Amino acid sequence: MKKNKISKDWIIKQHRDQYFKNSKSHGYRSRSAYKLIELDNKFKFFKKNKIIVDLGCYPGGWSQVAKENTDKSKILSLDLKKMDKLQGVHFICRDFQKDETKKEVLKILGEKADVLMSDMAANTTGNKSLDSIRTNALTQQVIDFSRFVLKDDGVVICKLFTGQDFLEVKDLAKKKFKKVDFFKPKSSKDFSKETYIHCKGIKTL
Ligand SMILES: C[S@@+](CC[C@H](N)C(=O)[O-])C[C@H]1O[C@@H](n2cnc3c(N)ncnc32)[C@H](O)[C@@H]1O
Repeated sequence: MKKNKISKDWIIKQHRDQYFKNSKSHGYRSRSAYKLIELDNKFKFFKKNKIIVDLGCYPGGWSQVAKENTDKSKILSLDLKKMDKLQGVHFICRDFQKDETKKEVLKILGEKADVLMSDMAANTTGNKSLDSIRTNALTQQVIDFSRFVLKDDGVVICKLFTGQDFLEVKDLAKKKFKKVDFFKPKSSKDFSKETYIHCKGIKTL
């Protein structure tokens, strides 16, 4: 039993170290950057001249990847925490759940977005079920947010957990979008219930 625990800890540590070290050597602000790279390799949503919104962007790894992969695009990133300046990225320190944030996002962009991405997680409480419910509630709010700020043929990429409420999020996404897929990047820890949803094309009727 003890041996199993030690070997699991060792695997977890190696896993963390690999992506952590890579993020330092590639200059990414977070190891999460690799998850977005894998998500884009899978779904190919980053293109030239697009409008991208990064919800819960701090410290900025996803915004860096978006900037690198979308020539001449407009990137608007927001978080409750202040993000250090990132060249070519417009940052606002806001709570995405506030009604006025939707209006402000649209005002800054001047038109609706092509890609709405979110790596947001609720603050952890130590209770895994509760954390999963709270993060999946955020995911449902992101889907709701997309109705206001996303073009009809736009894409949502968003973190969620395969725990409680997963099916509820999936049903909501299928009700609102023409195409819904799930993908867990290799850089996401195996033992974590974290996965990502990819939604494309708002259902207009
Ligand atoms: C896992 S971090 C994001 C990491 C980021 N994708 C990166 O690569 O650097 C999640 C972020 O979501 C933010 N967040 C959580 N709830 C939020 C809310 N209601 N409005 C804005 N940001 C929120 C947190 O402040 C936190 O910085």
